[in-house]
Amino acid sequence: MGGGGLRRRGADRPVPLALLLVLVAAAGKGKQGAHAGSSSSGRLQFRRDSGTFKVVQVADMHYADGRTTGCEDVPPSQVAGCSDLNTTAFLYRVFRAEDPDLVIFTGDNIYGADSTDAAKSMDAAIAPAIDMKLPWAAVIGNHDQEGTLSREGVMRHLVGMKNSLSGLNPEGVEIDGYGNYNLEVSGVEGTSLAEKSVLNLYFLDSGDYSTVPSIKGYGWIKASQQVWFQQTSSSLQRKYMNENPKQKEPAPGLVFFHIPLPEFSSFTAVNFTGVKQEGISSASINSGFFASMVEAGDVRAAFIGHDHINDFCGKLSGIQLCYAGGFGYHAYGKAGWSRRARVVSVQLEKTYNGEWRGVKSIKTWKRLDDPHLSTIDSEVLWNRGSNGRRKKNPDGSNS
Ligand SMILES: *[C@@H]1O[C@H](CO)[C@@H](O)[C@H](O)[C@H]1NC(C)=O
Ligand SMILES: *[C@@H]1O[C@H](CO)[C@@H](O)[C@H](O)[C@H]1NC(C)=O
Repeated sequence: MGGGGLRRRGADRPVPLALLLVLVAAAGKGKQGAHAGSSSSGRLQFRRDSGTFKVVQVADMHYADGRTTGCEDVPPSQVAGCSDLNTTAFLYRVFRAEDPDLVIFTGDNIYGADSTDAAKSMDAAIAPAIDMKLPWAAVIGNHDQEGTLSREGVMRHLVGMKNSLSGLNPEGVEIDGYGNYNLEVSGVEGTSLAEKSVLNLYFLDSGDYSTVPSIKGYGWIKASQQVWFQQTSSSLQRKYMNENPKQKEPAPGLVFFHIPLPEFSSFTAVNFTGVKQEGISSASINSGFFASMVEAGDVRAAFIGHDHINDFCGKLSGIQLCYAGGFGYHAYGKAGWSRRARVVSVQLEKTYNGEWRGVKSIKTWKRLDDPHLSTIDSEVLWNRGSNGRRKKNPDGSNS
């Protein structure tokens, strides 16, 4: 089950040989280093000019066969001439507008049941990110495996694609699902945090459907995955806070998967930003992953898809729970309600002498596929001052 030689920068592991080979190949093409958000070494890194790291989250493309696959839930006048190619066009538009440092596809990337060849569908779905030389990572949803590839097959394909930072699973442990991995984002080159992960991204396989006869409905994040998550988080936190230059609090963590947790039902319109236009399609039991995230202590937000016409963020026990809203035109939606993507922009703190340090704030907004590529629901998800920083003692020292 282990993912030998995967291109993944996990905690406490040396850079795998496969990554070096990929980087050598990329360097030969002379283009990989051109992207501002990832250094010439191919690592994910905050930008030197702005001290930012920006992610575009793409949820539920439901890509199938391209031009011959029609659109769902678009106004009657727009049905003709609408296909998966509209999803492709939206990807290019949002990437050009946002110039992200990383693209994250959070599952149901393809709609397996309507795809003739799952690998080809996935290649076509992801193509704009590769074409634009953007680093990208993906998890799988509940529809990716309904075509010619199994869940393992789909995830292996995603791991092997160009510029993919996706991973299959951690090495050396038995774990449920496919596509449980983490990525580290380093501080700005030339600063004291250049060799440290100042932002941690966790990716999990939230499964597809229950395999327990007495439990109906969708899958869930299993205990084995939660143990891996907790160990990874605590190892990253130890490294960040105990190794020089020692940091006083953990680097923020962001978590990405497909199916909502039952806790996404904790909100009403008074305490979320965005809309809720359908029920929360979580598993019918609670496997405890929300509690695992709260206990870990470093997670500031979790980003999912699955329910295409919900696009809100709400905060529960210090963690922002965020939908992206549906992206793809072959996915169900709501006619007249634009397809959309979520943007997550992380900003570093600058010291009085102008050096970039750790993360100061995490912001988000959505981009709509309307004529103006409108930006909506801009909000701060987390601020270092608000619930991250330790209280100062009266004498100014940290308690
Ligand atoms: C799909 O793309 C075509 C070609 O660019 C365009 O004319 C049409 O309006 C798009 N449909 C939707 C629903 O965006
Ligand atoms: C959101 O508001 C509703 C209605 O006031 C309340 O019942 C619920 O507990 C609130 N949820 C959170 C997470 O604060």
